This record gives sequence, C-alpha cells and structure tokens, in this order.
Amino acid sequence: MAFCAKCGCQLPSVFSEDPRFTTRSWGLHPGNLLKTSSDKSVKLKQALDCLLASVCSREQRCDLKLKNLELAAVGGSDVHVKMLAAPVNPSDINMIQGNYGLLPKLPAVGGNEGVGQVVAVGSSVTGVKPGDWVIPANAGLGTWRTEAVFSEEALISVPSDIPLQSAATLGVNPCTAYRMLMDFERLRPGDSVIQNASNSGVGQAVIQIAAALGLRTINVVRDRPGGTMVTYGGMAKQPVIASVSLLIFKDLKLRGFWLSQWKKDHSPDQFKELILTLCDLIHRGQLTAPACSEAPLQDYQRALEASMQPFVSSKQILTM
Ligand SMILES: NC(=O)c1ccc[n+]([C@@H]2O[C@H](COP(=O)([O-])OP(=O)(O)OC[C@H]3O[C@@H](n4cnc5c(N)ncnc54)[C@H](OP(=O)(O)O)[C@@H]3O)[C@@H](O)[C@H]2O)c1
Repeated sequence: MAFCAKCGCQLPSVFSEDPRFTTRSWGLHPGNLLKTSSDKSVKLKQALDCLLASVCSREQRCDLKLKNLELAAVGGSDVHVKMLAAPVNPSDINMIQGNYGLLPKLPAVGGNEGVGQVVAVGSSVTGVKPGDWVIPANAGLGTWRTEAVFSEEALISVPSDIPLQSAATLGVNPCTAYRMLMDFERLRPGDSVIQNASNSGVGQAVIQIAAALGLRTINVVRDRPGGTMVTYGGMAKQPVIASVSLLIFKDLKLRGFWLSQWKKDHSPDQFKELILTLCDLIHRGQLTAPACSEAPLQDYQRALEASMQPFVSSKQILTM
C-alpha cells in the first residue's frame, strides 16, 4: 500500500513501485513509461503522446504531463483512432481537480470530448471504417492524446464534412443546449428563453439552436420571471439563490440538467439521433462552433491556463 507524500491519500498499488510518483497519476502505467534509452528505441515506434494529469486529491492540485504510452493492439471490436482536436472544457478541469460528478478509475487520460479519425478497425467492427470521423459516446474517454485504440461502442461517428472545431465541440455543449431547450418546457416558436453565462460554449449553442427553432433568447438578465430555471453548470461553485416571492407567486421551478445522466436515461441510438440533428443544423449554417483558439497538444500548459482565465470567451482546442 502506498500513500501520497504530500497529503497522505492512498495511492493505487502500482505507484508503490516507483518513488517518483508522490501523487495519484492519470494514465500512468509503470509498464508503459519509456524509462530507459534502450526501451525508447523499441517502444517509441508504437508510442503515442498522451496528456496525463497527476492529481493530489486533497490539495486539488493539477499537475499535467505529456507522456508516451504504448498503443494497444487492435482487437476484434477495437478501433484505432488518430485524434484530430479536443477542447479544454470546465468539466475536464473539474475532473482533474477531483470535484466532478464522474471521476474515472485511475489511471486515466484527460479530456472528455474531441474528434478523431479512424485509422484501422478490428475484424468484428461494423459501425465505422478507416477515414470516418468519430467522437466519444460518453465522458471519460481521454481525448487529450494523439492516438488511441478504443472499443467500437465507446465511439459514435459524425459526418466528416463539418468544420473541425464544430466536430470537436459537438458532443457536450450543443447536446446540453439542445436537450435543455427540448426537455423542460414545451417551447413554441416566439417563446423566450433567458440564460446567464450566455457567452459560454453552452450559451452560444443555446442562442443558435433557439434561433433555429424560432425561439427568442434573452442573454443578459438581472430579474428572472417565472418559468423553469435549469441549472447545468456552476462556474462560481456557489449555491443557486432563488427569490422566495418568485417561487411562491410566479411558481418558478428550479431544475438541474446533466448530459451524462441524460445519456444513462436514453439509448445510444437516441444520442446518435441527437448528434445527427445537431449536424443537420451545422450543415444548414445554423450552428457553428463556439469562439475557439487552437493550440498544439504540446502547448497544453498554456492552453489549460488560458481555459481558466475569466472574461476571455474563447474555448481552447488542443490540436494533434
Ligand atoms: N450539465 C451538463 O450536462 C453540462 C454540459 C456542458 C457544460 N456544463 C457546464 O456548463 C458550464 C459552462 O461550460 P462551457 O464549456 O460552456 O464553458 P466555457 O465555454 O468555458 O465558458 C465558461 C463560462 O463561465 C463563465 N464564468 C467563468 N467563471 C465564472 C465565475 N466565477 N462566475 C460566473 N461565471 C463564470 C464565463 O464567463 P466569462 O467569460 O465572463 O469569464 C463563461 O461564460 C460549466 O460549468 C460546465 O461544467 C454542464
């Protein structure tokens, strides 16, 4: 049994073999590390760059490193993917800090969404073929890497004729925006939706999808009238405060939305249908990617720092 030298938290047993690791580390299998120069010549041929996060859980400290890992062999239902681009979202940062609703079993690679291109498929793969673009079916896949071998069911294909930034940012924020517009109130063309943080990735998608549905959006508010207030993020990490008079006299309803829970409550086919609906809007020019700044994977530190800066309104996209 090993314990973190900084905070005393228990480490997975693999880290007791290597005294360099004083914190829990994502994506780090000692067997996969290129430790010696003699190893390097053999392993580098099969290695992929991969962005790893070392997290000291009690200190909430985020310490990311680029590492080379071995690429697994492509088995029957496996898909070899070359990652093309992956955003840095608040949930990625929250996950690394250990304060997200879904924490992957360690070790793991950072990044929950992104787009990749299929390089090769195993003999029993039927849903995708080399050249197809794919995005993660669920959070926790680890998209901040140059290449990976995933199982077929971990991926869904998207059209490769949409812009790269749209594909890389399609699977989380536009899906969240679309579901919130569909699932909480029966909205009809001409109805209004009020949102705060409207310059966020989700907010930009809400504005565009609402417009495509004939809904009006009010994007800066101070007083909220009645209706349903859907909370989907907590950037300030503060409780939501609601006016008692609005709750009583206007029957204000407070609800929450989490895309990962929606996916658990719905079938993979329903998620694919949602993705195709959004791709349709992209094809028609009604949905574009949020404002983005591209950074090569190697510049991840600058990109992650930039992603946490206030008042920037530009999503960092790691390109591979
Ligand atoms: N429930 C779900 O399924 C779901 C799905 C997707 C996203 N989310 C959540 O939605 C939120 C937005 O995600 P995103 O990718 O759209 O983010 P984003 O593009 O990175 O934008 C972040 C937004 O948060 C604002 N912000 C940052 N710090 C703040 C603070 N301390 N107080 C108030 N506002 C602050 C920013 O405003 P400034 O530009 O003024 O700094 C910006 O509008 C995150 O909390 C994310 O986890 C939830």
